[in-house]
Amino acid sequence: MPHPIVKVIADQGCQSYLVGCPETRRALLVDPKVGRTKTIQDAAAKFGLTIERVVDTHTHADHLSAGQAFAAAGLDIVMSRHTSCRRKVLRVGDGDGVQVGSLRFQVLEVPGHTPDSIALWGHGLALVGDTLFAGSLARSDFRGASAAQLFDSVTRRLLTLPDETVVFAGHDYRDVLFTTIGHERRTNSALRHADAAAYARAIGDVPGAGNSPEVDHMLALNQSVEPLPELPSAVVAACCAAGPGPTTRASAVTECTVAELRASEPARAAAGRWIDVRDPWEFAEWRIPGTKNLPLSELGFHLAEFTSSDEPFVFSCLGGIRSKTAAKTLAYLGVVDGPISLVGGINAWRDAGAPIERI
Ligand SMILES: [Fe+2]
Repeated sequence: MPHPIVKVIADQGCQSYLVGCPETRRALLVDPKVGRTKTIQDAAAKFGLTIERVVDTHTHADHLSAGQAFAAAGLDIVMSRHTSCRRKVLRVGDGDGVQVGSLRFQVLEVPGHTPDSIALWGHGLALVGDTLFAGSLARSDFRGASAAQLFDSVTRRLLTLPDETVVFAGHDYRDVLFTTIGHERRTNSALRHADAAAYARAIGDVPGAGNSPEVDHMLALNQSVEPLPELPSAVVAACCAAGPGPTTRASAVTECTVAELRASEPARAAAGRWIDVRDPWEFAEWRIPGTKNLPLSELGFHLAEFTSSDEPFVFSCLGGIRSKTAAKTLAYLGVVDGPISLVGGINAWRDAGAPIERI
């Protein structure tokens, strides 16, 4: 079966996920954020996906979950059997399966950031919530958190997954959209500690110290059975631990204008080294001739295609934001050297009178 359909919906550092079965177009919605319900529904419609169930990887302390809004529409909400949430949820435990269409994901209990943290693993990806981030681990200073438990959850559970597993976390604070198990095993400085006790000592977190009044209010709302207003919800706390984050290798991202890239486009496109990272329906409508479409959220399934050469890869999108994230993410993973992002994207390309292909 082809890899799952993945669409990341990012907002203020929070990442929600649509994970769809390519055969049945049924989808899981993971960690939806209040205020983004319409964006999520629109994205599902664009992909032709029907959301079948919602998964909250843990009881969030930093933002409001939109799970209730989807529950009101009749969808099951999947959470850990250890959750403190008082809503009607489908409780799952270690080893249980979460099915959607022909896809089946295995539940891994990964406590530490919260006592009720779970991850889903299967089909080449892991949705890890707030545990393992690109270059760091989740924070462990909320009430009920444990730095030692978090370290064990990551090293004894997540790091046993295959190296090529694409890791989708609950947050991205530094423009690295995803990582892989192998890359974090090799490079994440938080994992260099000898054991959980050494990590806990180094972090020095005191559980509960992170529970500001804002965090406690957010937690109470997420645990409550009361309906939450569909308002843009502020993020009240970052969920990653303080300290170093992802370090990108020497290959920094270069941003180039249409004028700088126009002459080299035909050769790059012919060599398959110009990647358009927009979503498939956008690419189907109009594109720079000869470019190849690999959507940003699904790049992790195509890492082997980024072969090295003296000619750097060019990334483009609609306006130049997603292409920069793609270039930064792949540079972080070390799969591209000196990637180039097209400033202004295909909009700037069109405005400059450069050739466009339309259906
Ligand atoms: Fe969190």
